[in-house]
Amino acid sequence: MPIAPNKASSNAFSAGNGGAVGIAIEDLSKRFGSSEVLKNVSFSVQPGEIFVLMGPSGSGKSVLLKHIVGLELPTSGRVTLDGFDAAAEETRKQVRMALVFQAGALFNSMSVYDNLALYPREHRMANEVGIRDKVMRALQILSLENAVQKFPAELSGGMKKRVAIARALVMEPQLMLYDEPTSELDPVMSATISEIIATLREQYHVTTMVVSHDRDLALNIADRVGILMAGKLVSLGPPSDLRHPADPRVADFLNPKIDLKNPRFKHLES
Ligand SMILES: Nc1ncnc2c1ncn2[C@@H]1O[C@H](COP(=O)(O)OP(=O)(O)O)[C@@H](O)[C@H]1O
Ligand SMILES: [Mg+2]
Repeated sequence: MPIAPNKASSNAFSAGNGGAVGIAIEDLSKRFGSSEVLKNVSFSVQPGEIFVLMGPSGSGKSVLLKHIVGLELPTSGRVTLDGFDAAAEETRKQVRMALVFQAGALFNSMSVYDNLALYPREHRMANEVGIRDKVMRALQILSLENAVQKFPAELSGGMKKRVAIARALVMEPQLMLYDEPTSELDPVMSATISEIIATLREQYHVTTMVVSHDRDLALNIADRVGILMAGKLVSLGPPSDLRHPADPRVADFLNPKIDLKNPRFKHLES
């Protein structure tokens, strides 16, 4: 077992020392049977950027994220990380990436500590003392020191999301991907999660892609925002574009009009 050089145990996280990677999505299309879920999608995410991908439910956002981590293969087109095919096993060994799933995907039978220690133990990132350092530092960054011995069932929704982020951070990622990190949270906790995502990018210069419906999150932390509708990228630009969207479909998505004369509200009429 080779010993990783230049990894002092006090340096709990090394991502950020020039380690951020760029993502390129080139003419990506994906079919499941007869349904075309992604249609000729192209955009790139710069190293160290926060890119927010928005869009209605079912528009293909999670499928697109799965291509970046190699869990789905393109029907046509390609996804590369610093120029290397995202689907190649070799790339996944080289690039440290963490996907924070919508539901957290914590192991319910394990304490918060063991959930966080799992990856560094499996990858022999350090001895137990070094792993403890990394785990406690990640918990501290997310203000979760008091949760260390708790089990997932004992945590609130906001704490579970923070534990999921802490667990990703322990992997020392060069690329962090978040799938709906603020869904089901109240506005205050959503703002806290947005701040955490922005802070991690500031501190570690980690390339960040966030899939979200949360307009406030996009306005507050995104460098650029893409909007996916029915598998097509219909908008790409700075978050200020969201304030006065030119495309009526995007305007409807961001500011849905409630029409009480709509037939689906008929039962409300007296
Ligand atoms: N493995 C799969 N097999 C078949 N259809 C899928 C699969 N994964 C996702 N889909 C379909 O692709 C579409 C986009 O899904 P998804 O990316 O999860 O949407 P969202 O934008 O809400 O994250 C949906 O219609 C979904 O049912
Ligand atoms: Mg999704």
